[in-house]
Amino acid sequence: MLEIKSLNKSYGKKKVLFDLNYTFEDGVYGLLGPNGAGKSTLIQIMTGNLICDSGSVSYCGKDIRKHSREYRQVLGYVPQLQGMYEMFTAFQFLSYMAALKGIPKQKIPLEAEAALEIVGLLDVAGKKLSTYSGGMKQRILIAQALLGQPKVLILDEPTAGLDPKERIKIRNFISRIAEERTVIIATHVVSDVDSIAKEILLLGEGRIRRHGSIQELCSQLSGQVYEARIKSEALEKLEERVVISNIQELPDSTIQVRFIAKDENFRGLVTEAAEVSANLQEVYLSAFSEQDGRSGENAGAV
Ligand SMILES: Nc1ncnc2c1ncn2[C@@H]1O[C@H](COP(=O)(O)OP(=O)(O)OP(=O)(O)O)[C@@H](O)[C@H]1O
Ligand SMILES: [Mg+2]
Repeated sequence: MLEIKSLNKSYGKKKVLFDLNYTFEDGVYGLLGPNGAGKSTLIQIMTGNLICDSGSVSYCGKDIRKHSREYRQVLGYVPQLQGMYEMFTAFQFLSYMAALKGIPKQKIPLEAEAALEIVGLLDVAGKKLSTYSGGMKQRILIAQALLGQPKVLILDEPTAGLDPKERIKIRNFISRIAEERTVIIATHVVSDVDSIAKEILLLGEGRIRRHGSIQELCSQLSGQVYEARIKSEALEKLEERVVISNIQELPDSTIQVRFIAKDENFRGLVTEAAEVSANLQEVYLSAFSEQDGRSGENAGAV
């Protein structure tokens, strides 16, 4: 159990985290928020790489700063940006990282192989990292975080820059390894955590705006999400009154739209709108468009 209590953090005069409180149990948690929300700052504090101004992080009731060695042994961390040892082979890189983690020498080859197997790179383990694609490099970073079978696995934007196929691969093996450990994934890409997260935290401007299971968050939008067919000229006007979450152009030059409406203001523009169940992307758009107009534009980036 990983617990954050009254966390506050500023960079100089700029405050970026405001009194955050949360308890993470076993399972996958999605930390969703737009660029600059404070995700990486929070993660760096939770991994012990950054000091907060006030508040605490504890693992199983022990402050991670007072028990940092113990905590490091149960922690796996995939940072957002990372230089790699390009001249190493994947196997050498993992062996090196395993040694840094203090894994006993005789256990290192097996641990490295097991991690490579999980991320699907065992057959190219002898190749230099410089020859790897972006997606393979990202998978190697995840593999290094898995060394020593961490109880807490924290990933910051694990799919940044990857194509949809690699993203799905990463999402699938994260959900496979999530049993009996706490996995926290920070991302602004809703699909990275959709369907695998037990709980979602929406972080906006340094505050937890909403949290809950995907189902709970979606049902909070009940009665606010609609689907309708409109003439293409009507789109601009509709956009002024609602938050559009999806657009599909139809052959007869009409448009099928999904949108979030907080009031009935749209009725004059749309004749027949059918109420539909919200999805996680709409939860994201709704949370972050409340905050500052239409800040959720990058929500569904795939
Ligand atoms: N080292 C730093 N010095 C000063 N300001 C910083 C520093 N790191 C982050 N910030 C600022 O703190 C805020 C939160 O940044 P952070 O990187 O935690 O956000 P994020 O949610 O991870 O964003 P992204 O999705 O772009 O990775 C931003 O306004 C950022 O400019
Ligand atoms: Mg970040």
